[in-house]
Amino acid sequence: MKIISVVGARPNFMKIAPFIKAIEKHNQTASEKIEHILVHTGQHYDDRMSRAFFEQLEIPDADINLGIGSGTHAEQVGQTMIEFERVVKENKPDWVVIVGDVNAILACSVTAKKEHVLCCHIEAGLRSGDMAMPEEINRLVADRISDLLLTPDRLSSENLRKEGVPESKIKFTGNIMIDTLENNRKKADSFDIMDILIQNSVNNPGKKIGGLLSDEFAVMTLHRPSNVDKKEILEPIVRFIIDEVCPDIPLIWTIHPRTRKMLDSYGLLDEIMEHNSLFVLEPLGYLEMLKLNMHAKVILTDSGGLQEECTVLGTPCLTLRWNTERPITLKEHGGASVLVGNSIDLIRKEYHEARNKKRHPVVPELWDGRTAERCLKAILDFNN
Ligand code: UD1
Repeated sequence: MKIISVVGARPNFMKIAPFIKAIEKHNQTASEKIEHILVHTGQHYDDRMSRAFFEQLEIPDADINLGIGSGTHAEQVGQTMIEFERVVKENKPDWVVIVGDVNAILACSVTAKKEHVLCCHIEAGLRSGDMAMPEEINRLVADRISDLLLTPDRLSSENLRKEGVPESKIKFTGNIMIDTLENNRKKADSFDIMDILIQNSVNNPGKKIGGLLSDEFAVMTLHRPSNVDKKEILEPIVRFIIDEVCPDIPLIWTIHPRTRKMLDSYGLLDEIMEHNSLFVLEPLGYLEMLKLNMHAKVILTDSGGLQEECTVLGTPCLTLRWNTERPITLKEHGGASVLVGNSIDLIRKEYHEARNKKRHPVVPELWDGRTAERCLKAILDFNN
């Protein structure tokens, strides 16, 4: 069997790492080996957004890099389809495997199906119901045309059933990203928080480091267009963290390239950089971020992956979105996360609640570190 799996952007890397390990393990004993080709679309290309993850998670170098880079959505998707079509025609795989919800999954699922190749989506069935989110469109298209839909939780399987997907295509396999978390917990815990700050700082940690000696801190990440692409939304969030979070607890802000660009263009970057209890860091490696998550008192984020990791680690999490495709991470389903949108009143209220909360780890069903094996088995057992 020949499998091409595809990655494009940062959140894909922690999902593909355990899948590749599962293939390697299979090949050690199986009589029929799997030939695996890893394709990187090149959507994320910075060392810190891409290469660092390959190194830390021991992902083999991509066999093929499509070199797509930045651009509008149409440019990214269009270019990926043109390049990926060539790859599929040349390599004639039995399966194309896609993970998550980034632009690569839309481009590569459509291309695979038009070339009559079976397509498997790992992390299928997530739905935010928000068509303004590019990822929602990617998920809907990929799930509509894929042959095998591997879901991270039962709510996602249910979403697919409601859309009329036949039962034979749906398999609940668990959350593959948690395989990576479990494989790396120990390694991450051996990192030193001060070293992480010093090595990744973009705003001179030397003069501030004393503020963190108490070992209490909050963490923030923001990158969604809905939060960062409008000044009238981003500025009040920045004011809230400067006026209300930083006087309470030092804040570590790991800054996505998109967010940094926008802060700069709104004239907000200098105040953030100069603030004494705000540690601005470059985008972090997987292990560094995991270490911060293990020790943070509270996390403010719009990342879906962090919502999931906070649930398993028990870190109180304020999700700066009005909806989520991952309801299983919400308090009402037993998780650690609460939706606060971009309403400052709501953010303030939930921030104070979170500050009084103790860590409460929860492990949803099949988030057990063995999802990749189940995904590979589902592919091997698939009867077309
Ligand atoms: C993408 C994904 C999103 C994911 C996020 C994680 C889609 C639709 N979105 O959003 O689901 O949560 O990645 O990071 O696929 N840039 C760099 N260096 C890089 C990559 C990007 O500087 O290595 C800059 C680009 O110039 C671009 C901006 O960051 O303008 C945004 O990058 P893009 O790939 O368009 O989307 P993300 O916001 O990263």
